[in-house]
Amino acid sequence: MVTFKLPLSMLLLFLLLNIFLCSSEVLYIPVTKDASTLEYIIEVGQRTPLIPIKLLINLGGRSLWVDCDKGYKSSTYKPAVCNSTQCTFAKSHACGDCIFKPQVQPGCSNNTCYIWGENPLINSFHDRAEIAEDVLAIGSTPGVRVTWPRFIFSCLLDQDMMRQFANGVTGIESYIV
Ligand SMILES: *[C@@H]1O[C@H](CO)[C@@H](O)[C@H](O)[C@H]1NC(C)=O
Ligand SMILES: *[C@@H]1O[C@H](CO)[C@@H](O)[C@H](O)[C@H]1NC(C)=O
Repeated sequence: MVTFKLPLSMLLLFLLLNIFLCSSEVLYIPVTKDASTLEYIIEVGQRTPLIPIKLLINLGGRSLWVDCDKGYKSSTYKPAVCNSTQCTFAKSHACGDCIFKPQVQPGCSNNTCYIWGENPLINSFHDRAEIAEDVLAIGSTPGVRVTWPRFIFSCLLDQDMMRQFANGVTGIESYIV
């Protein structure tokens, strides 16, 4: 019998590699543990212009979602069009228009599709996580940065879903396929 003892950060590295790349490139993604909440957190770059965002690591989930309620600004945000390959790829369960905000914005677009957003800290799910694409980058220094120009993620507008996040965290990474 063989037992593997990998440090958690190594495990996460492998998972993220599978998810993001499906290739043999080696990436290093530092995982930090928040001292007060004991949550595991990674920092990635997202949007145009690129800004750093902190994401909670959730080993049991199925998507990457971010808080779009507190002013998501990006010139490259593109909501998925209903029944597009993006919707299929993300296994969306529904499709619709923006009916709960006075005007369309990231997280509330027309003719777009949704998946479930999950926050395991509070055991909550939300059925209208809008599927979208935007720039995602990993690695803090330009020399080791890897960028995906059209990374598929989802966008949530419900502040209730952000409860119990460590300070500065604005979403959840759990792209485990
Ligand atoms: C588009 O997808 C929705 C579910 O996401 C489905 O109900 C609808 O029938 C689809 N429309 C077409 C034209 O395929
Ligand atoms: C979005 O859809 C809603 C509801 O169908 C409609 O009232 C609104 O005019 C649309 N907005 C845009 C910008 O297309």
